[in-house]
Amino acid sequence: MTTASLQPALQALDGPPDPDLVRIRDLIYEAAGIFHPDNKLRLLLDRCSRRMKEVQTNTLREYLECLTHQASRRGELVSLLNEITIGETCFFRNQPQLDALRQIVLPKIIEAKGETPLRCLRIWSAGCSTGEEPYTLSMLLQEEASGRLKGWAVQVLASDLNEHSLADAKTAVYGSYSTRNLTPHYRLKYFAPAGDQLQLQAQARAHVSFSRLNLSDDAHMTFMKDIDIIFCCNVLIYFDLASKRRVIQHFYNSLLPHGYLFLGHSESLYGVSEDFRLVHLPAATAYVKAARTQVGREPK
Ligand SMILES: C[S@@+](CC[C@H](N)C(=O)[O-])C[C@H]1O[C@@H](n2cnc3c(N)ncnc32)[C@H](O)[C@@H]1O
Repeated sequence: MTTASLQPALQALDGPPDPDLVRIRDLIYEAAGIFHPDNKLRLLLDRCSRRMKEVQTNTLREYLECLTHQASRRGELVSLLNEITIGETCFFRNQPQLDALRQIVLPKIIEAKGETPLRCLRIWSAGCSTGEEPYTLSMLLQEEASGRLKGWAVQVLASDLNEHSLADAKTAVYGSYSTRNLTPHYRLKYFAPAGDQLQLQAQARAHVSFSRLNLSDDAHMTFMKDIDIIFCCNVLIYFDLASKRRVIQHFYNSLLPHGYLFLGHSESLYGVSEDFRLVHLPAATAYVKAARTQVGREPK
């Protein structure tokens, strides 16, 4: 495939968008909830062109056929989603949020669950990219293992759509960009040098399990149950309102009654859902699952 073969589509970006590119945009939206507005079509075209090179198609029309009619269409859609999902992340990305988790949210959840015989804490990192977020959570929980969480079983469920990111997450070897926020304490305690990179040690990996989960896959999402805390940070920014609402509804159903939801620094549920109550924590915010009032009953 030559750049020249994409010339008409590139030119069309200055006017009405290429209908084949628009159809590809719709396919991605239907499959994963990720919406490319018109001003992001150039980016989408760039990502498609990488796949077009790989599958040796010359025009967007041919590539669209590959995504729709051929026997390979499911596989190709997965490959395109691998290409377009953006995995920017790092360890300890939002320190005030993590401090609030440890100092305020965790004690509240322990208190709420303290009465139950099964002492198990389940945290879900939804849209975990290459693993830095769930592993950060795992290390924080390890720090509490002989304190607040003594005698508790801990599970960190980590999911993402991107297969390549998940493969990297399982390898757990990280470079300087990912590890730039690590304090000497965490660096020395949980990592070992691996050439010029750092390998996360078994202790912090033991409680983390990774799976491919598309947040727009309604059937699959219903399997996520009995979660205490969800982190879905910097993921829903790529979704439109309708897709966000569906995902948030699933999160509501997945959480236990006392459950918390953390979003990214610049994200909120304003205009998206009224099923959660906003909680102001020192230098961070979270959402707590609000009890639904039953139809015909006065709220208590
Ligand atoms: C910017 S990263 C955020 C990583 C991490 N949560 C953080 O805040 O550092 C966004 C991640 O969301 C994932 N993602 C995007 N759409 C998704 C979907 N429909 N289902 C599951 N994951 C998705 C991407 O693959 C990417 O890894």
